[in-house]
Amino acid sequence: MNVLLIGGGGREHAMAWKIAQSSLLDELYVTPGNPGTVRHGRNVDLDLNDQKKLRAFLLEKRIRIVVVGPEAPLVDGLHDRIVADPQLKDIVTVIGPKQAGARLEGSKEFAKEFMFRHNIPTAAHRVFGQGELKAAVEHIERVTPPFVIKADGLASGKGVVITSDRKEAAKVLKDMLEGGRFGAAGSRVVIEQFLKGVELSAFLITDGEAFKMLPAAKDYKRIGVGDTGPNTGGMGAVSPVPFADKDFMQKVHDRVAAPTIRGLRKEGIAYSGFLFMGLMNVNGEPYVIEYNVRLGDPETQAILPRLRSDLLDLFEGIASGTLSERHVDVDDRTAVTVVLANEGYPNDFETGAPINGLELVRDAYVFQSGTALKGDTLVTAGGRVLAVTSFGKDLEQAILAAQRSAALIAYEGKYLRPDIGLDVIKQPTGKGAQQAVK
Ligand code: AMP
Ligand code: GLY
Repeated sequence: MNVLLIGGGGREHAMAWKIAQSSLLDELYVTPGNPGTVRHGRNVDLDLNDQKKLRAFLLEKRIRIVVVGPEAPLVDGLHDRIVADPQLKDIVTVIGPKQAGARLEGSKEFAKEFMFRHNIPTAAHRVFGQGELKAAVEHIERVTPPFVIKADGLASGKGVVITSDRKEAAKVLKDMLEGGRFGAAGSRVVIEQFLKGVELSAFLITDGEAFKMLPAAKDYKRIGVGDTGPNTGGMGAVSPVPFADKDFMQKVHDRVAAPTIRGLRKEGIAYSGFLFMGLMNVNGEPYVIEYNVRLGDPETQAILPRLRSDLLDLFEGIASGTLSERHVDVDDRTAVTVVLANEGYPNDFETGAPINGLELVRDAYVFQSGTALKGDTLVTAGGRVLAVTSFGKDLEQAILAAQRSAALIAYEGKYLRPDIGLDVIKQPTGKGAQQAVK
C-alpha cells in the first residue's frame, strides 16, 4: 500500500517512522517532510491547493491513504476536495476529518455548542461577537476571576488569554472584538469558566463508527522550568500519565470519547482519523478544554513509540470501515519526550547552527522538527528542533534516559526543560525514602 503523509514537523517524523515499520507499506511519501522523514520515506514538494497536480500525483504514485498531520489542511477542506474528485474518491482514503468535522478544532464556539448538545463535560461559556463588546465586558463584571478569554478561530495556540485582572480582561476583549487582534479568528470570543485541575491530552482513532483509545500523554506547554513563561507548542511529554489512572480513563472513554463520536454521527458529520481531547482532570473528573482534529506535537513522539499495533493496519481499518475489528496494543513502559528547542523560542531565535551528536544517541528515538540540511550538515531551522524520546520501566528511569540522551546532542542555542515529568513523579514513601539525602 502506498501512503502520502502531510506535514513536516516532529509529529510527522514520528508518524513516518511508525508507518515505515508496517508490513503493509510499499512506498511512503511525505510532503513537505523534513530531514528526519527522509529516512523513512521520500520527501516530495506538493502544493495541496493545486488540485490538478495533487490528483496527478496521487494517481501516478497509486496512493491509497493520505494521512494529514496538521489541522490547517483539514480545516481548509483538503479531505472534501479529495473525495469530491471523481477520479480519487473510490481509491483514496483520507485519515483526518472533512471540513465539517474539523470545525471541532477550527471553531471554539462550534466545539463548545457541540459539547453542550451532547452533554459532554466542559467549562460553562458565553460567546460574544462583533458589536457585543459592551455585553462581553458586563459579563466579565459579573463572573468571578480568573477569566478565560478565547478567540473563536484558529490562532496557532495563541488565542487564549487567562487573567484575573478585570481591566486587562476588558482590554483583551476590546483588542479582539474591535482591534483586530488575532484577525478574523478573534472577531468572535468565547469567555469560559476557569477549570482548576491538571491537564492531559487523550487521543482516539475512529472510522466514524467505532473508535479506539490511544495512549494518553501529558504535554509541557510553557517554555520555562516549573511551567513558567510563555506558552509554546509543547516542550515535552510523558505517557502514560500517572494521574490518569484506569478509572479516570474509563470516564474519559464513557463521558467524552463515546458521546463525541456518537454526537458526530447523530449530526451527520462523517469523521475519520484522530481526535485529540485536551482535558482537565478536576478532582478526578474529566472536562474538555478543547478538541483538536489531529495528533499532538510533541505528544505523538511519546505515544507512537508505545503503540505496538501496526498504525497502517488501523488506517486500513478506517479505509474499510472495520476499525472495530482491529486491536490497539500498547507498551506498558513509560515514555518521556524532551524537546530540544532554540534559545529565544517561542519568540525570535537564530537558525542555521550545526547539530552535533545525533550519532551518539543509543538510548532514545530522536525525532526531527525544526531542522534542515545545509550541504551534508544538519542545522537548526526552527523553534523546536528535535524531540528525544526514551523508555523506562518507570517514570524516573525514562526521565533519566531521555535527559541523558538529550545531553549528547549539541548545537548553538540549544535549550530544553530539565524538569519534564518531574512534577508527576511519585514521591518515594516509607522506609528508605530519605536514604538518598544522607
Ligand atoms: P486552548 O487553546 O483552548 O487549549 O487553551 C490553551 C490553554 O489555556 C490550555 O492548554 C489550558 O492550559 C488553558 N485553559 C484553556 N481553557 C481553560 C479553562 N477553562 N480553565 C483553565 N485553563 C484553561
Ligand atoms: N501539544 C499540543 C498540541 O499539539 O496542540
